[in-house]
Amino acid sequence: MLKVCDVTKSFCGARKILDGVSIDIPESHIFGLAGPSGSGKSTLLRCIQGLETPDSGTIVCNRKVSFMFQDFQLFSHMTVLKNVIYAPTLKASPEEKERCVAKAHEILRNLGIEDKILEYPGTLSGGQKQRVALARSLMIDPNVLLCDEPTSGLDVATITDVVSLLRKVNDQFGVTIVIASHDLYFLTQISDRIVLLRDGVIATEINPKQHDDPIEHLKKYYG
Ligand SMILES: Nc1ncnc2c1ncn2[C@@H]1O[C@H](COP(=O)(O)OP(=O)(O)OP(=O)(O)O)[C@@H](O)[C@H]1O
Ligand SMILES: [Mg+2]
Repeated sequence: MLKVCDVTKSFCGARKILDGVSIDIPESHIFGLAGPSGSGKSTLLRCIQGLETPDSGTIVCNRKVSFMFQDFQLFSHMTVLKNVIYAPTLKASPEEKERCVAKAHEILRNLGIEDKILEYPGTLSGGQKQRVALARSLMIDPNVLLCDEPTSGLDVATITDVVSLLRKVNDQFGVTIVIASHDLYFLTQISDRIVLLRDGVIATEINPKQHDDPIEHLKKYYG
């Protein structure tokens, strides 16, 4: 279980970017974070990951957390395989490295991109880079995967692929997924629950599957 309890965060004493945010995310849920630009979505993800410390409130997450960055952040001078194994093999023994390589192959095969293993990121499409970034974040066997804008810059067909890939990761490995996105269609397709942040507070919270018109409902809260 991932529990965010009354979290407040400001930068340099200025206005509160998060202002008393409380969210319970049950295990193996796909949880969407919506809200206008600047509403605090990425800040909340960064607090959950431990990259930012809340001014007050608590975050309970005694689980392994992985983060998928918005712009993939792949190393352009490394092959797909090297990108995926780079961090986990930094201090690895030769035997551990061998295990990592085998695991990377398996994950990349699972995500349907094993044939690109020796290519460089510059030769890949946006959707393929997204898969590599996802493979990299799965190397630590996370229980929680945080995704910041995973569909930005992708076309509709590729977004459909991302939906199935994240569902697969959720179904097969029981990974809890928290996704910040501007794409309300994507969020309503994939999420078990959606929280909409506005000016650092939760403006509305819905189960999109139990809502007649979840997108229209969410749109009402954008300024
Ligand atoms: N390190 C920081 N220092 C100062 N201000 C920051 C910092 N990080 C975020 N902010 C401010 O906090 C506010 C919320 O930013 P955040 O990135 O969380 O919004 P967001 O909802 O993710 O927006 P977007 O949809 O554009 O990605 C913004 O006004 C931003 O300028
Ligand atoms: Mg953001």
